[in-house]
Amino acid sequence: MASDSNVTIPSKIKAWVYAERGNPVDVLKLDSDVRVPEIKEDQVLVKVVAAALNPIDFKRALGSFKDTDSPPPIVPGYDVAGVVVKIGDQVKKFKVGDEVYGDIIEKAGDHPKQHGTVAEYTAVEERLLALKPKNLSFVEAASLPLAIETAYEGLERAGFSPGKSILVLGGAGGVGSLLIQLAKEVFGASRVAATSSTGKLDLLKSLGADLAIDYTKENFEDLSEKFDVVYDAVGQSERAVRAVKEGGSVVAIAGAATPPAVRFTLTSTGSVLEKLNPFLESQKIKPLIDPKGTFPFSQALEAFSYLQTGRVIGKIVIHPIP
Ligand SMILES: NC(=O)c1ccc[n+]([C@@H]2O[C@H](COP(=O)([O-])OP(=O)(O)OC[C@H]3O[C@@H](n4cnc5c(N)ncnc54)[C@H](OP(=O)(O)O)[C@@H]3O)[C@@H](O)[C@H]2O)c1
Repeated sequence: MASDSNVTIPSKIKAWVYAERGNPVDVLKLDSDVRVPEIKEDQVLVKVVAAALNPIDFKRALGSFKDTDSPPPIVPGYDVAGVVVKIGDQVKKFKVGDEVYGDIIEKAGDHPKQHGTVAEYTAVEERLLALKPKNLSFVEAASLPLAIETAYEGLERAGFSPGKSILVLGGAGGVGSLLIQLAKEVFGASRVAATSSTGKLDLLKSLGADLAIDYTKENFEDLSEKFDVVYDAVGQSERAVRAVKEGGSVVAIAGAATPPAVRFTLTSTGSVLEKLNPFLESQKIKPLIDPKGTFPFSQALEAFSYLQTGRVIGKIVIHPIP
């Protein structure tokens, strides 16, 4: 046992781990004998209270970017909300006891950390974290970082500014549900349109969409209305480029990008969370967690299995964690 201040940190912890790549439901195992991660001078050790899953977690396990990935064994999980229990020598922003949240992997697909967040403890650079908004639960906070930072970075890359219109492809998912809200509440969109299947159209409206498009009934690219920005969170950029106004921008986060669509991969940073904290605290932006989307630590496999259906509303969060 090692200790820092008044907190006792075990040397061995529980974590979900895969020793070889494959479908998470086949390869992921609960290990009760994982060494607690060592922290570097710019890192803090976080007692994980809640960890959200993202599609990249199963894509990574399946080997989607194995050439640039760290070798197994791998503890999955990018998103965390928890409590700082130890700080490195160079850490300035946080102290033991702070409640924090963040996406702990700076470059999503470029040598991501071996030890993620689906564990009792995780180590993370302070620059990737922000203080948890006081009004949010750990579950709500954990649901945000990767998705909200991706939504924000894409809007910035598209040069989104007040008065512009946007079409969001995939409005009911983790990224899309936050994108609709950010476009309206933070970036001052004049008009937000978004796509989903029939049963989720009311949800899109409740998130702030002016136009909810049922993709099972109409093709968004056939609408006479065109948009200043199309944000493709589905992987439909070939169609997305037909829905943008001349001179507009198309950003894509899934699938191959058809020019002029530009695809990007998130660079995680706590500074975006810090910028957005006032909007979260004033409830202008609200986390969206799937009604069936909170799974206890022991049910991480069920959580992955549900995520992999591709039908999740908002986010999936693992909580409580022992
Ligand atoms: N490049 C990056 O940095 C980055 C970052 C984050 C995410 N991503 C990628 O972006 C994609 C979205 O991520 P996410 O976390 O938002 O995924 P997600 O939460 O798993 O998305 C699920 C949602 O997608 C909707 N959906 C599925 N097919 C659709 C379609 N054809 N049209 C409209 N909506 C559709 C579903 O609604 P329905 O049931 O109504 O279809 C569901 O609610 C994933 O491929 C992810 O890997 C990339």
